[in-house]
Amino acid sequence: MVTGATGAIGMAIARQLAARADHEVVLICRDADKATRCTEEIVQATGNPRVHFELVDLSRRSSIQAMAERWQGPVHVLVNNAAVTPQHRQSTPEGIELQFATNVLGYFWMIEAFTERLRQASPARIVNVASYWAGGLNIHDLEFKRRFYDNNAVYRQSKQADRMLTVAFARRLQPFGITVNACHPGDVNSTLSNNLGFGGHEAPNQGARTPVWLATHESVHRHTGKYFERQREVNCPFAADMEGIEDLFAASEVYGS
Ligand SMILES: NC(=O)c1ccc[n+]([C@@H]2O[C@H](COP(=O)([O-])OP(=O)(O)OC[C@H]3O[C@@H](n4cnc5c(N)ncnc54)[C@H](OP(=O)(O)O)[C@@H]3O)[C@@H](O)[C@H]2O)c1
Repeated sequence: MVTGATGAIGMAIARQLAARADHEVVLICRDADKATRCTEEIVQATGNPRVHFELVDLSRRSSIQAMAERWQGPVHVLVNNAAVTPQHRQSTPEGIELQFATNVLGYFWMIEAFTERLRQASPARIVNVASYWAGGLNIHDLEFKRRFYDNNAVYRQSKQADRMLTVAFARRLQPFGITVNACHPGDVNSTLSNNLGFGGHEAPNQGARTPVWLATHESVHRHTGKYFERQREVNCPFAADMEGIEDLFAASEVYGS
C-alpha cells in the first residue's frame, strides 16, 4: 500500500514494489484520472497485473476510515508518502491546516486505520517517508495559527512530526510484529519540491530506493523506530525527546475524536 502514488516518488516506489512479481500493490490516490493512468503505466512497465488503486483524501480521517472499511484482507507493507506544500495557507473542510492534516495526520490516521490489517499480516512494516529537511516543531502551534504561514517552515515542522511519530508508533506496534521506520528519500523534482523552491536533482527512482529498501529488505526486518538516509541508519535528534514525542502523539490523537 503506497500513499501519494501519483506523485514523483510515490509512483516510483509503487513501480519498484510491483516489479517484484509476488507483490500486490495498491496505489492510494485522490485523483481518479491520475490513478488510472499511473496504475496502467505500472502494470505495463512491470508486467505485474496485481496493481490497483483506491481513491482517498488523506487529509480527511473520514475518507481514510471509509477506505479501511472497504478493505479486504491483510496489509503487509504501508508506505506513508503523500504530502503537500501549498504556498498559501489552506484548510480541510474540517478546518485543519492542510499540511498538518495531510503530511502528519494523514500518516497517523492511515496507521491507526490499518493497524489491525497489518497485524493480520505480521511481520509487517510501515515506512514513513519524511525528510532531512525537518525541524521547528511547536507543540502549542501545530497548525501555524500563531506563527506566520511560511510553507517551508510548515513543511519542516510536518516532517519533524513524521519522524517523532515514527518512534511513538514503533513502541506501540512492536508487540504486534509491525515495524515502523522513517527515511529521507532524496531530492527529487516534484510538485512538492517546486512549491518549496528547491527543485531537486535526483531521479524519482533514486528517491524510491530507501523507502523500498525499508519496505522489503531482509537486513532491516528487525529495525524499528529508526530514521534512514541513503539506506543507512542516521541518528535522529528528534528521537531522543520522548516527552515531546508522547505530547505530539496525544495532540495528534485529539484530531480524530
Ligand atoms: N521531492 C523531494 O525532493 C523530497 C525530499 C524529501 C522528502 N520528500 C518526501 O517525499 C514524499 C513524496 O514527495 P514527492 O516529491 O514525490 O511529492 P509529489 O510529487 O508532489 O507527490 C505528492 C503526492 O501526494 C498526493 N497527495 C497530496 N495530498 C493528498 C491527499 N489529500 N490525498 C491523497 N493524496 C494526496 C499527491 O496527489 P496528486 O497527484 O493528486 O496531487 C501526490 O500523489 C513526501 O512525503 C515528501 O515530504 C520529498
